[in-house]
Amino acid sequence: MDDDVVHPVREYVLGSTDPEMARLAAISRVYGAMTGAWLDAAGVRPGMRVADLGCGPGDVALAAARRVGPTGSVVGVDDAARPLVRARRRAEEERLATVTFERGDVLSWEPAEPLDAVVGRFILMHLPDPVAAVVRAAKLVRPGGIVAFADVALTTRGSLPELPLLTSYLEWFLETLRRAGRSVDMALRLAAVFAAAGLPSPVLTSAAPAERGGDAVGWSIVAGDLTSLLPVIERLGVATAVTIGPDMFEQRLRAQATAHDAVLLNPLVVGASARTPLSRA
Ligand SMILES: C[S@@+](CC[C@H](N)C(=O)[O-])C[C@H]1O[C@@H](n2cnc3c(N)ncnc32)[C@H](O)[C@@H]1O
Repeated sequence: MDDDVVHPVREYVLGSTDPEMARLAAISRVYGAMTGAWLDAAGVRPGMRVADLGCGPGDVALAAARRVGPTGSVVGVDDAARPLVRARRRAEEERLATVTFERGDVLSWEPAEPLDAVVGRFILMHLPDPVAAVVRAAKLVRPGGIVAFADVALTTRGSLPELPLLTSYLEWFLETLRRAGRSVDMALRLAAVFAAAGLPSPVLTSAAPAERGGDAVGWSIVAGDLTSLLPVIERLGVATAVTIGPDMFEQRLRAQATAHDAVLLNPLVVGASARTPLSRA
């Protein structure tokens, strides 16, 4: 763990409130195309059996289910109940009968049968030992199976011109995650994590979508980050709700972006994928 960790926070820091589900929906709009490109580059194909670890409301599991088709299957795994309710509803709405969702911890969950692929987006940065999680994921797939994780480099978010509220957000958000012992640049660490887990050099896919003006979807993600992380921001003494003003933060941020016709660079997301060796050592 890094030296500047002040209070290691053991629980998942963003929670599963309604605003957090809205934040994840905004993320899925900004990174939907990138997610598809990552799954395609990983080799997720018709007929495969796939698990999505830390599936949340099911964005990646549903994208995988569209790819594996009626002859394949996808199981999404999350240890929080609320996102799974939303994920199941989305699968029903899309009439994707081959995707199921199970409650479980990604570090101990066992599939009913060997898998062709294990995938996970925005989960490794939240785990205390990402290498151990990738080692475990590799054990869940058949020899020659796919291990694919995507994550974010939160330090790469920015705007032109710089907006005072975005600058404050970056200070609060990044400092809190660092103090809590979370990696803020897991996107750029994925290749090293795969190597440490004994996997071949991964194929890397990446995107940092830019959006212009006050209507950008990414402003919702920024405001949502603060709302979801607020209890931890306050607990670790980084800022208070009074200073942040979470209720009006998105509105004020959008007003600044509109006034300055700002271009928002959403943070870089990298997807990594590799295949396990055909014979186990
Ligand atoms: C940032 S969200 C990402 C959700 C989804 N993968 C996506 O990309 O939209 C992380 C999810 O991981 C779940 N999670 C965190 N730690 C977990 C663990 N140890 N076992 C299972 N799920 C976990 C959280 O409940 C949350 O739904």
